[in-house]
Amino acid sequence: MQDHLKRVLFREEEIAARLDQLAAAITKDYRGKELSVLAVLNGSLIFMADLLRRIPLPLQLDCIRVKSYHGGTMSTGRVEFDRSDLLNVDGRHVLLLDDILDSGHTLAEIIQAIRENAHPQSLKSCVLLKKLKKRERQVEADYVGFEIEDEFVVGYGLDYQEHYRNLPLIGVLEA
Ligand code: IMP
Ligand code: MG
Repeated sequence: MQDHLKRVLFREEEIAARLDQLAAAITKDYRGKELSVLAVLNGSLIFMADLLRRIPLPLQLDCIRVKSYHGGTMSTGRVEFDRSDLLNVDGRHVLLLDDILDSGHTLAEIIQAIRENAHPQSLKSCVLLKKLKKRERQVEADYVGFEIEDEFVVGYGLDYQEHYRNLPLIGVLEA
C-alpha cells in the first residue's frame, strides 16, 4: 500500500507525539466537566481510539456515520447522516472529532444539526488534519493535530474509495 504514496507526511511516531499534546490540552480544558465526545466515522475511528486512550477523564462516547464523499476526491457538499444517532447532549460539553477539515461541509452540517436538536453547554471540534485552503463553509476546528497543504491524503483512518484506512502513517496519494 505504501508504494501508492507520493510522499509520507507523518510517520507513526510523529502522530503519537502530537496526540500526546492534543490529549493533554483537551484533558486540561475539560477537567471537571461533563464531556461527551462525538466521533465522525469512519474516518476518525483510528484517531479517536488513539486520542481517547490518552484522555484520563470520565466521558461519554458516541459515534455518527457520515458520508460526504461519493467516491472521488472532491467534496460534493452533500453530507448524509442519521440525526437520530445524535446522543442526548443537553447540558453537556460536546467535543466533535473528525479526521480532516477540508471544505467544511461535514463539520458545519453536524454542528448545525446538534444546535437544532439539542442544547449542549458547549460545542467544540477537534480534527487530526486541517487543510490550509479557503473553506466552502464558515467553520474552524478548536483543536488541530496538523495543518497540511491542499492535497489528498490517506492512512491512519483516512481513505480513498475505502482503501488505505489501515496504513499506520499519513501520506499523499500518488495522482
Ligand atoms: P469536508 O466536509 O470537505 O470538510 O471533508 C470532510 C470529510 O471529507 C472528511 O471527514 C474525510 O472523510 C473526507 N476528506 C477530505 N479530505 C480528504 C483527504 O485528503 N483524504 C481523505 N479523506 C478526505
Ligand atoms: Mg472518507
